[in-house]
Amino acid sequence: MASSAGHGRLALHPMERSVLKALVRRGRASFTELAQELQLKVDAVAKAAERLQMKGLAKVEEVVLDRVAQLSEEGAEYAERGLPERRLVDELRARGGRADLEELKRALGENVVQIGIIWAKKSGWIEISRSDGRTVLNLVNYPESPTEEELVLRFLADGPKRLSELGPYSEACERLSRRAGLVLIREVREHVLSPTETALSLYGELEEVTEVSQLTPELLKTGRWREVRLARYDVYAPVKPVFAAREHPLSALIRRVREAFVELGFQEVKGPLVELAFWNFDALFQPQDHPAREMHDTFYLARPSRGRIPEELAECVRAAHENGAGTGSKGWRYRWSAEEASKLILRTHTTATTIRYLADHREPPVKVFSVDRIFRNERVNWKRLAEFHQIEGILMDRGVGLRHLMGVIREFYSRLGLRDVRFRPSYFPYTEPSAEVDVYLKDLGRWVELGGMGVFRPEVTRPLGVVHPVLAWGLGLERLAIIIYGVEDIRELYRNDLSWIRSVDPFAWR
Ligand code: PHE
Repeated sequence: MASSAGHGRLALHPMERSVLKALVRRGRASFTELAQELQLKVDAVAKAAERLQMKGLAKVEEVVLDRVAQLSEEGAEYAERGLPERRLVDELRARGGRADLEELKRALGENVVQIGIIWAKKSGWIEISRSDGRTVLNLVNYPESPTEEELVLRFLADGPKRLSELGPYSEACERLSRRAGLVLIREVREHVLSPTETALSLYGELEEVTEVSQLTPELLKTGRWREVRLARYDVYAPVKPVFAAREHPLSALIRRVREAFVELGFQEVKGPLVELAFWNFDALFQPQDHPAREMHDTFYLARPSRGRIPEELAECVRAAHENGAGTGSKGWRYRWSAEEASKLILRTHTTATTIRYLADHREPPVKVFSVDRIFRNERVNWKRLAEFHQIEGILMDRGVGLRHLMGVIREFYSRLGLRDVRFRPSYFPYTEPSAEVDVYLKDLGRWVELGGMGVFRPEVTRPLGVVHPVLAWGLGLERLAIIIYGVEDIRELYRNDLSWIRSVDPFAWR
C-alpha cells in the first residue's frame, strides 16, 4: 500500500501536525474534544486522524461514551398519569382498601387494571381473593413514597438524560427499559484518538517537516517550491462508500421483458386492477361454478360490489355458456347469471386485460402484451405471494397456430438467456390446445414451471366476433425473477433490503 510512511522522513500535512501536536500533549482524546480545542470541524479532525492512523502515528477507536435514556410514548403517558400499579392502589385506597375487580375495570379501564395487577402483586402491594364467584382485590401494603421507577419517570419527563446522571437510579431506569420499553436507552458512541509509541518518540522530529498540499502560483514564482515538501496523494486512502441510485431488480426485469416483446413487434396494453368478473372469468368461458371463482381464491369487492357489464356482448357470452352459441360446442349447460358476471373483483390474471383488448380489436393482426399486477387470495409463503405480476400476451392473425405460439415463447425466454424451454399438455377453460411452459435450470438440475398458454377456444372468440385464431399466454414474473437473480424466497423481492438490491447483478440475464 502506498502511504507516505517509509519515504524518508515522515511527512505531515499541517492539519495532521496540529492534531498530532494536541494529541501528544494531552494523550487520548475524542474527535469532538480535539475539534473544540483546535477550532476545527469534526470532519477535518476525522480526516487527519485517518491519515495519522495510516502513518502509524495514532490509533482510532470507537467507544461507547455514555448511554442516554428517554421516555417512549407509553412511558411519557405513565409519567403524566402515573404507572398502572400506582393508579390501581390509589383507587383501591380510595375505596377503603378493597374492591371488586369488575368495578375497578370500569373505573380505570381494563388495560390499566390488567397491567396494574401484575406489578402491584409483584411488589406485594395487593392480594387477590375470590368470594362467591367474584374476584376481589385487597390492598395489603400501600407504597407511601414514590418508587425508584416513579422517580426515574419524573426525572425523564423533562427530557432525555445520560444514564451517568441518574447515578444510583440507573438500574431502575434499565428495568423500565426492559418493561415494555417504557424507557428507550441508546448508546452515545464517539471516535477516540490516541497517539502511538512511534508518535511519542518521533514527535520532536515531526515538528520540523512542512508539507504543502497545493502548489500555488506564489510557490512557483518565489521558487519556494524547491524547499517545501509536496504532499503525496494516497489513492488507496479509505473513503466512505458511495452508492449510486439504481433500478430495483424487479423493475429492471420488467423493463427487459418489455423490451423483448417490443423487439418482437408487440405493443403493451393496460387494463384495470379492479375488474368485472365478466372479463376475468365469463368472457373466458370459465363457468360460474368454477372453483377459481370462489372467495378463498378470488378477492371480491365489498363496496362497490357490482359494475356494469357490456350488454350486447353479455348476451353472446351467455349463449356460449348455456349452449355453445353455434360453435359446435354444447356449452356448460346451466343458466348463466348476468348478476354473477357483474361482480367486481381484483383481477386474478391479466388474461382479463388481453381479452378486453381483443373484444375491441377484431381485425388481424393483433399483437399485444402486458406485464402487470394480479391478486389471488393465497397464504403468502416462500414460493407464493398474494399480489404479483404476470407476463401476458396474445397474438391473433390469419393461419397462426400452436407452432407459432411455441416459437414466440421460446424466442422470448431465449432473449432473457433461458434457452431450454419445454411444453407440457395441460388444461385451461379458455384454450384448446393448452400447454404448461417449463424452463430448465442448470443450477437446480430441474425444470421449473413458469406459466400457461394455448389457443383460445371458439367459445371464447365467437361471442366477441373474432374469427381468426388467437394465441395466448400468461407467465409468472416473480418466478422468473427468482431464477434470474438466484433468490430462494420469493418474498425477498419485496423486502426492500438495500444490501440485496445493491448486490444483485442487473445484467444477470445476459
Ligand atoms: N391465465 C392463466 C394463468 O393465470 C395463464 C394462461 C394465459 C393460460 C393464457 C392460457 C392462456 O395461469
